[in-house]
Amino acid sequence: MSQIQAFDADRALARIQELKHLDGALLPILHALQDEFGYVDEVAVPLIADALNISKAEVQGVVSFYHDFRPLPPGRHVLRLCRAESCQSMGCDKTIAHVERRLGVKLGETTPDGAFTLRDVFCLGLCAHSPAAMLDGEPHGRVTPQVADMLIESAGRRQ
Ligand code: FES
Repeated sequence: MSQIQAFDADRALARIQELKHLDGALLPILHALQDEFGYVDEVAVPLIADALNISKAEVQGVVSFYHDFRPLPPGRHVLRLCRAESCQSMGCDKTIAHVERRLGVKLGETTPDGAFTLRDVFCLGLCAHSPAAMLDGEPHGRVTPQVADMLIESAGRRQ
C-alpha cells in the first residue's frame, strides 16, 4: 500500500483539472483518484461534478455502480483473494471462509481497527499456483488457510 497517498483535496483537484478535457473524462478521473488514494473520497464528488458540469448524483451513481470504485478509504493492508475458476477448483472458498472468520469481516469490508481490507479479485495470472492472493500489491500462490494466516500475521507486524 506504500504507493497509496492519504486523500488530499488539492491534489485531487489537480488530477481532475489534468484529466477533465478527455472524452468521457469521468471514468479516467475516478480511476486516477482511486489509484492515487485507494478510494474516491466524497469530498472529490462535487469537485468532479463542477469540473465536468454534471450533477453530483451522476458522479455518485458511477462510483456506486462500478465495483472497482470505493467510497471509503481502504485498511492499512489490502488482502485480495482470487475467486476465479482455477482458484475455485483449488479450494479458494475454504481460504476465503477462513480469512473472513479470522478477520471478522466479509469480502469488500474493512476491519473495525482499519488494519485490513478484504477484497476479491478474478484471476491474478497465478492460476498455476492456485489458490492465489495479493497482499498490498504483492502476489502469493498456494494460499491455503495456513498461508493466509502467515500473510496476515506478517502484515500485522508491519502495521
Ligand atoms: S484463477 Fe486465480 S489466479 Fe487465475
